[in-house]
Amino acid sequence: MQEMHDTMWWLHRNPKPGGGAPWWQDGCMPTAADLWRQLRRASADRHHPWRVVALCTQGADGPRARSVILRQVHEEDRRLVFYTDRRSHKVHELAQCDRVALLCWDPRHQQQLRMTGQAAVDGSGDAVAAHWATVPERAQLDYASPLPPGSPLVDGSSEQGGPPAPGGAAAQDPTTRLRARGHFAVLQVQVCEMDFLELDRQGHQRCRQVWVPSRSVWEGQPLVP
Ligand SMILES: Cc1cc2nc3c(=O)[nH]c(=O)nc-3n(C[C@H](O)[C@H](O)[C@H](O)COP(=O)(O)O)c2cc1C
Repeated sequence: MQEMHDTMWWLHRNPKPGGGAPWWQDGCMPTAADLWRQLRRASADRHHPWRVVALCTQGADGPRARSVILRQVHEEDRRLVFYTDRRSHKVHELAQCDRVALLCWDPRHQQQLRMTGQAAVDGSGDAVAAHWATVPERAQLDYASPLPPGSPLVDGSSEQGGPPAPGGAAAQDPTTRLRARGHFAVLQVQVCEMDFLELDRQGHQRCRQVWVPSRSVWEGQPLVP
């Protein structure tokens, strides 16, 4: 709450950078379609602040959050696409509980988007192969570590199990690429609820969009911020 108070003070003293018309109809709250459009922009624009999403899972000892890059957005079936290593902790956690929370924050426009949904992880099949083909060669090496992400490094040296150095002999080895492909997975979240908050010196605004399966529609509700 202190943080929100500080932000209000900041906004009061400093007019919102960027200004201009909002990306939804002025005077209204954003619709689900507006939010999906903005998410799609984020997936396509590497500078969009919503492209880095905090993905929260339920771990054995409680909730866990980490940053992931939003790769694709499919509004038609409410799907967000991320890439990950199938050996990572998050994948193990999702096998136990597939419910996730997601958080996006745009500091420039003071806009927060929170989402909840159901995640699925896939490491094989034509669709995954098509995604893999879009990963730049250098980034493919991120998936090539012999040891799973989060493993302790012996003597702190990545040579003992970390990803191969770009340009090194291991990076050129075709078996390294094969190994990396085996670790690559596509993580998809089907969103069921979106909660949007904009901090504004004229008054904060918040609304929720909930997916209603029986009618296949998003139902919007303005909320007390
Ligand atoms: C800006 C940023 C972007 C990241 N993007 C991804 C990503 O797209 N996929 C991913 O698996 N990890 C990504 N990471 C690393 C994760 O935050 C995390 O450290 C890693 O996936 C291990 O998480 P886990 O142990 O909870 O599975 C990113 C980290 C940062 C800082």
